Amino acid sequence: MGKVIVVTSGKGGVGKTTSTAALGAALAQRNEKVVVVDFDVGLRNLDLVMGAERRVVYDLINVIQGDAKLPQALIRDKRIDTLFLLPASQTRDKDNLTEEGVEWVINELKKHFDWVICDSPAGIERGATLAMRHADIAVVVTNPEVSSVRDSDRIIGLLDSKTLKAERGERIEKHLLLTRYDAIRAQRGDMLKVDDVLEILSIPLLGIIPESMDVLKASNVGAPVTLAEPKSAPAQAYFEAVRRLAGENLPVSIPEEKRGLLGKIFARRAA
Ligand SMILES: Nc1ncnc2c1ncn2[C@@H]1O[C@H](COP(=O)(O)OP(=O)(O)OP(=O)(O)O)[C@@H](O)[C@H]1O
Ligand SMILES: [Mg+2]
Repeated sequence: MGKVIVVTSGKGGVGKTTSTAALGAALAQRNEKVVVVDFDVGLRNLDLVMGAERRVVYDLINVIQGDAKLPQALIRDKRIDTLFLLPASQTRDKDNLTEEGVEWVINELKKHFDWVICDSPAGIERGATLAMRHADIAVVVTNPEVSSVRDSDRIIGLLDSKTLKAERGERIEKHLLLTRYDAIRAQRGDMLKVDDVLEILSIPLLGIIPESMDVLKASNVGAPVTLAEPKSAPAQAYFEAVRRLAGENLPVSIPEEKRGLLGKIFARRAA
């Protein structure tokens, strides 16, 4: 059975969709069989970042409502054949996402994929709680700023109370992914320091993704950054994050202002 990851955040626009695509592609680049699932009904962004928007015929809600079979809705990536997308509907109402329907889809996907990665909408509304419900692992995407960290704290509370794992008395594995980290602003003190974020949230650090034009360039050409710019700093950070997800115990490096130089090595904290 595959593992289910939810990529979630309290605050919007922090980099969940970008990270879902990059982590999904990076895992598939290691020959793992991956499906990325868009739970952001109404916005439908993941297909754009994956470069599949013109290939969407059926979506998650079509499958839940019985209008399409699951394989009809899955879109295979043109570049990596172990990477698939289950798109969201752009027009239909979020209320069409039923709890039983989501449970059925996730359980089916788990039978066929090594990783099922759910791109959550921001916040604590129903769409977000449905996206996290079946997760084994949560990636809490946070920017190093006060409002984002505070909202992540609320999401961690939800993960510990509203997921199936929590209801069964099990612990859901939680990881912090710090994104849009700007070394220059951090040095100036305009951003929270990594240690401060870790102190507040106290969940283990999966990686630090630098703020980078490479991410925007990749998204403009409809490719996850790990595919479009595999040598870039953000892609390297996503590759490292995936190695940690797969269980490797790697130190996390803090991106530095100077190009090509790695920052001081940051020991990963235990959960
Ligand atoms: N490391 C990065 N460097 C530069 N820009 C980034 C980075 N990560 C994300 N972005 C940009 O930030 C914006 C928001 O990213 P994204 O859509 O992934 O966030 P999100 O959390 O999914 O948003 P929402 O809450 O609306 O779903 C996008 O324009 C994206 O290209
Ligand atoms: Mg998004």
